[in-house]
Amino acid sequence: MTTSRLVCSGCGAEPRPGDAYPFRCPNAGTGSADHVLVRRLEPAGSLADDGAENPFLRFRGMMHSWHVARAGGMSDEDYAELVRRLDDAVARVDGHGFHVTPYTRESGLSGELAFGAGAVWVKDETGNVSGSHKARHLFGIMVHLEVVKALGRQPASGEPPLAIASCGNAALAAAVVARAAERKLRVFIPPDADNVVVTRLTALGAELNVCHRQPGVAGDPCYLRFKEAVAAGALPFSCQGSDNGLTIDGGRTLGYELVKSARALGVLPDRVFVQVGGGALASSMVQALEEAHAAGVLTALPRFHAVQTEGGHPMVRAWRRASARILERSGRPAPVEDAERAAALWATVPPALVEEELRYAAAHRAEFMWAWEQEPRSMAHGILDDETYDWLAVLRGMLRTGGHPVVVTEAQLKRAHDLVQQLTHVDADPTGCSGFAGVLAERERGTIATDQHVAVVLSGVTRRAA
Ligand SMILES: Cc1ncc(COP(=O)(O)O)c(C=O)c1O
Ligand SMILES: [Zn+2]
Repeated sequence: MTTSRLVCSGCGAEPRPGDAYPFRCPNAGTGSADHVLVRRLEPAGSLADDGAENPFLRFRGMMHSWHVARAGGMSDEDYAELVRRLDDAVARVDGHGFHVTPYTRESGLSGELAFGAGAVWVKDETGNVSGSHKARHLFGIMVHLEVVKALGRQPASGEPPLAIASCGNAALAAAVVARAAERKLRVFIPPDADNVVVTRLTALGAELNVCHRQPGVAGDPCYLRFKEAVAAGALPFSCQGSDNGLTIDGGRTLGYELVKSARALGVLPDRVFVQVGGGALASSMVQALEEAHAAGVLTALPRFHAVQTEGGHPMVRAWRRASARILERSGRPAPVEDAERAAALWATVPPALVEEELRYAAAHRAEFMWAWEQEPRSMAHGILDDETYDWLAVLRGMLRTGGHPVVVTEAQLKRAHDLVQQLTHVDADPTGCSGFAGVLAERERGTIATDQHVAVVLSGVTRRAA
């Protein structure tokens, strides 16, 4: 029988047994470790696939909430029914519920980037609930909350409000899922939030709080206000694993789908490029790929690449620090600005040394991750988080697979967006195309061979005024 535990990847602590809301490490906010709860299946999950159209049903055995439900005496059928009911409610709010999203070989993009036998493969999330992958994160949390309710484990004080800080896709997703479950949601948004988004959030009944930057105060003001709300009792309905480890559970369904589709199509990706803001999407992807590898669904792990913009790239800074340390310790010091060259030296680095350095990074967060000093700017504004909150799993994904981060220019972002608009049927916005901009950048550098297969996620449908 498989069991599911939540364990802090920074300090090893576990939530109190029976905690209805096991979202954060009990030691969060103390010491120097990177406190993020991650779910561990023992033994590893098989990624069994019953073919259900809804990924939350199809991969339910991989969800922490399913294990909580089963251990609490709920039948598999009752859990499935709970997911179906919630999904039907989402469909009533947003027009449709969750389905496995398309994964296709994009011949237009592949031809434009002069791939030969290889190709660009696209996981299209623009048709997902609320127009992006973000709803996956939040539906996963909501299923957990509904399980807690069904098991009668809600605290006597009742149902606290939900809270999220976001300027776009995450807030929209949160508002749809919260509305479907008839829960109160408080959203913390910047003053320049898109009008289309604000109108839709209001229509969905979310409570909006506009947060201004304070002179001399580093960090995202929306995030700071969100933290205050959580401290005052709101539940973190967040797309950041550091605030709610369970957000990664739903996010991983994207990676499982990608791997299963790639298997069915007979072409596994050699490289995966993912745009990174707060890092939950990339963290979910890394963990899904690792689990698929452990389950034997993937024969080898693809090289993993996080993509950020010139305007703000804390994840890249973290990788450079870790990379420099490892190359130094392995007796092959080299400049890490040339990421592909640095990554190539990895072939000679003993895996044990990499694991040791990952443990060091987990225990010394501040040496690797801190808020970007300037206010970050880019046309890919959805990935301008001051910090990459879920950086550690992303770092691990790159270090273990010999991948590296990519910094893209505004010109590359624009070209990537234009190409997606012209050559595909996917109406993704510039943020949602930024992972593909990383592929474009590396093709320009000549570091992706023409026979390689490269996977990207296009997410975030263009929001147009009605
Ligand atoms: C379209 C789109 N893609 C990717 C991301 C990045 O996700 P994460 O913040 O989890 O790194 C975002 C985040 O807002 C987004 O809106
Ligand atoms: Zn911890």
